[in-house]
Amino acid sequence: MGLKILVIGSGGREHVIAQKFMQSSLVDSVFCAKGNPGMKKDGIQLVDLKEDDHSGLIDFAEKKKIDWTFVGPEVPLLNGIVDDFKAAGQKIFGPDKAAAMIEGSKDFAKDLMNKYDIPTAGHQTFFDFDQAKAYVEEKGAPIVIKADGLAAGKGVVVAETVEEAADALHDMLEDNRFGESGAKVVVEDFLAGEEYSLLAFVRGEEVYPMTVAQDHKRVFEKDLGPNTGGMGAYSPVPQISEELISESIEKVLKPAAKGMVSDGCPFTGILYAGLIATADGPKVIEFNARFGDPETQVVLQRLESDLVQIIDDLLNERTPDIHWKTSGFSLGVVVAAEGYPGDYEKGIQLPEFSLLDGQRIYYAGVDEKAQQLVSSGGRVYLVEAEGDTLEEAQKKVYELLDSVDTAGTFYRHDIGSKALR
Ligand code: AMP
Ligand code: GLY
Repeated sequence: MGLKILVIGSGGREHVIAQKFMQSSLVDSVFCAKGNPGMKKDGIQLVDLKEDDHSGLIDFAEKKKIDWTFVGPEVPLLNGIVDDFKAAGQKIFGPDKAAAMIEGSKDFAKDLMNKYDIPTAGHQTFFDFDQAKAYVEEKGAPIVIKADGLAAGKGVVVAETVEEAADALHDMLEDNRFGESGAKVVVEDFLAGEEYSLLAFVRGEEVYPMTVAQDHKRVFEKDLGPNTGGMGAYSPVPQISEELISESIEKVLKPAAKGMVSDGCPFTGILYAGLIATADGPKVIEFNARFGDPETQVVLQRLESDLVQIIDDLLNERTPDIHWKTSGFSLGVVVAAEGYPGDYEKGIQLPEFSLLDGQRIYYAGVDEKAQQLVSSGGRVYLVEAEGDTLEEAQKKVYELLDSVDTAGTFYRHDIGSKALR
C-alpha cells in the first residue's frame, strides 16, 4: 500500500509539490486542501476545507488515513497548524508556531541573526512615526522600510528618497495600511548586490541545502514598480558561485538552524533564506519558514531524488539521501491579472496550452466555470520549462506564452535575463 499524503495550500507552489508527490512510486494518493481546479489534470484530489479549519483538516486526515501532511504556505504555520496536528497524533511536516516566527516577525529574525552573528543589513525597529522619520532623515536614502509581520511580500518598500521612506512609514505607522502587521516597522540599510534564494530541508540542527534560485520580486521589467510575491524565477543561478553558496550555508543556514535549537524553538521544515551577494559576502534580507513561490516551481525540477522519500525520511528519524541535477536549467514565468499587485479583475478566461516535452504549467489563482479555467487571484499561473542552457529554458517558456491569447493578464518578458547579460 502506497502513502496517502495531504498538502495544505492552493497556489502554484502547492501545485508543484503535490505533482512531485504524485510522481513518486511510494504514493497511493495526494490530496490538496483546498487546492485549485488547475491541479486536477495531474490527478491531485481537491479537498474543500479551508487552511484555517484545523479541526476539519485533522478530521479529514484521520478519516482518510493520511500518512502525513505537508504545509505549503506561512499563514497556517503561524496559526499553529503543526502544533494542532501533532497534538491530535497526526504526522505533519513543517515548523511549529514558535519556530515559524522566523518568518512571522522580522524583529524575531533580526534578534536571532544578531545573537548568532548571521550577516544581515543593519536595522532599527520602530513603533512611533516621528522617531522612525527622524532615524530615516539621519540615515538618508536609499533605505528599506518593512512592516514587521506578514504582508504577502508586499510590506517592503525600497525607498530611493527620504520623502518616499517617510511616506511608507506614514502608510504603515499612521494609516495602518497593513493593519497589525505594520504597527511595528523595521528600517533597514539598503544592500546592493545580486539577490538569490537558498532553501534547505531542516530538521533541528541538520541542514540539507537545495539548489539556488533567483526570484524577480518587482512587478515590471528591469526590476521596476512595486514588490510582489514574485513574478518569475530560475535555477540554478550562474552568477552565484559555488563558493558563495557554501559560505551562505556555513554562515547563514547552519547557524540559524543551530541557534533555533539553542533558543528552545527547533525548526523542522523548509527554511528559506533570501540573500544578497554584497561586496562583504552574503547577507540575509529575510527568512521564510516554507518553500518560496515561484522558486519552488523551478527548484523542484532540479531534484533528482524522490521528494516523498525525503520528507518521509525526515519525519521518521532517517537520514535522507538527496541528489540534485548537475546540468541544465529550469525557468518559470508568472502570469498575473492586470492590476496586480494592486486591484485586479477576476474571471479572466485562461488559454488552453499544448505542452511540449519539458514544458509545464502550475496553476495558482484559478477557478472553474463551465469546465473552463478562469482567473480568481492576482498571480494566476506559471509557465515553466527546462533547457540545457538558461537561454533554451527561457526561449521555451516565452515561445509557449507568445503562442496563446493572454488578454487580461500580463507577465515580465525578462525573467532570467540578468544571468544572460
Ligand atoms: P523581503 O520581503 O524582505 O524579501 O523584501 C522584498 C524585496 O525587497 C527583496 O526581495 C529585495 O529585492 C528588496 N529588499 C529587501 N530588503 C532589502 C535591503 N536591505 N536592501 C536592498 N533590497 C532589499
Ligand atoms: N518568492 C518569495 C517568497 O516566496 O517569499
